[in-house]
Amino acid sequence: MALLNILTIPDNRLKTVAKPIEQVTDNIKKLASDMLDTMYAAPGIGLAATQVDQHVQLVVMDLSEEKNQPMVFINPKITARSGEQIHEEGCLSVPGIYADVKRAEEITLEYLDLNGQQQTLNADGLLAVCIQHEIDHLKGIVFLDHLSVLKRKMAIKKLTKAAETVPVKVD
Ligand code: NI
Repeated sequence: MALLNILTIPDNRLKTVAKPIEQVTDNIKKLASDMLDTMYAAPGIGLAATQVDQHVQLVVMDLSEEKNQPMVFINPKITARSGEQIHEEGCLSVPGIYADVKRAEEITLEYLDLNGQQQTLNADGLLAVCIQHEIDHLKGIVFLDHLSVLKRKMAIKKLTKAAETVPVKVD
């Protein structure tokens, strides 16, 4: 088990556009496994490789209560979307900030699994939200980028303030 460092805003590396994975090598499998460990430990329900400073198109997620249904999406691509939903989102790279974001209600996702096999998944609800959120990371987008300028500024101000008020540890 290896825990990776999660980048947080305003780290510019979060704006990097991830490259497609040409072959599912042992290194990619190891990265997926380490990302799952990191996500579970955070704890979070999704993590994109961008967030751990690895700029390849790899996303891990687990929306189950028992945290025993890991999902790995390689080169994920949304090929169809319909409807609209608004869901409150948070992000391990934007700690402590939650905001409503408008996304497609239903999506079709094409991706490679860990065996390098092409897969298609139809998703709606939270699963669709999560997939759209994580794919954004691969494009260098964080959920705050979907908010109005004013809301984004307020959120960042709140984040900066929270960072300033972290108590100084004396021992
Ligand atoms: Ni995120």
